[in-house]
Amino acid sequence: MNKVKKPCCGGEPEEMFPKKTVTEIKKEVKIRYDKFAKEGGLAEGCCPLVGGRTESFALEHGLYSQEDLALIPRLAIRLSRGCGNPTGFANIQPGEIVADFGCGGGIDLVLAAHKVGPTGKVIGIDFAPQMIERAKQVMEEADLSDRAEFILLDIENPEVPDNIADVVISNCVINLCPCKPCVYKQAFDILKPGGRLAISDIVTIGDVSPKVREYFRSIWAGCTGGAIPEDEYLKIVQDVGFDQLRVVARHVLSPKELEEMASCPGKKFSPPFSKEKLAQMEGKIVSTKFVAFKPKNKFSL
Ligand SMILES: C[S@@+](CC[C@H](N)C(=O)[O-])C[C@H]1O[C@@H](n2cnc3c(N)ncnc32)[C@H](O)[C@@H]1O
Repeated sequence: MNKVKKPCCGGEPEEMFPKKTVTEIKKEVKIRYDKFAKEGGLAEGCCPLVGGRTESFALEHGLYSQEDLALIPRLAIRLSRGCGNPTGFANIQPGEIVADFGCGGGIDLVLAAHKVGPTGKVIGIDFAPQMIERAKQVMEEADLSDRAEFILLDIENPEVPDNIADVVISNCVINLCPCKPCVYKQAFDILKPGGRLAISDIVTIGDVSPKVREYFRSIWAGCTGGAIPEDEYLKIVQDVGFDQLRVVARHVLSPKELEEMASCPGKKFSPPFSKEKLAQMEGKIVSTKFVAFKPKNKFSL
């Protein structure tokens, strides 16, 4: 944690955010997820997009299986706001160190901790203090605290430690970050040479008119406002230095899934869009899941 601060590696210029500054966007996201965590999440549990499929369907589509969900304390399910299951395709091995960028209430930390076993470790990173508190509570309930660490930090911040992880997972988080290259730079740096990414996130496909895009951006904390085109997103990952990028699953959100995703973490926290506005985004919001590798000969400076 004692790194000299390096400047951010880039990202979208301030003028891309006509209605709010980057600082205001981040503050809004942090406050909404913090409040959601403080209240203990949603009684109905995790997003319809992620939950409770058969083992083979879950594996093929990058989602949680019923077996996965059976391992998870109820609190983590109530707090889950993901769009896939990165632990299902990260190929996590016993003894590995897994960092979860935007761990939220800890659903993926539990699954990763089972996979790394007693000789491995999971590190939950989130900038919402109440989320970190909830994730700690969840790991205690799951009796996995001895293999969990937590860092309260913005994942765009260069203070994210270097060269400590074998795997970075992240589930429906980076869409919320104004500077995606900054996040991927930190993911690159925290990984040991040869380490890998397993990401589930929200992106757009097809043409979205600038007006519609701007409207969705006005409710950034819902997981569609900060979504960018899939090809642009994957190029950012490669430009940072990752290679062997492979999309393992994709899912175009149904109208109901889109409605729920657009007001993440819940309508009480992020105001819902009108039916007409949602219709303009139908078929254009995708949950994409991919893996990529940090080359073996690349060290973080
Ligand atoms: C949609 S929730 C997903 C949480 C979790 N990954 C899951 O699957 O349930 C997004 C989480 O990312 C966190 N987050 C958003 N932007 C962040 C940032 N810049 N740095 C750290 N955490 C961030 C939020 O606090 C929240 O806990």
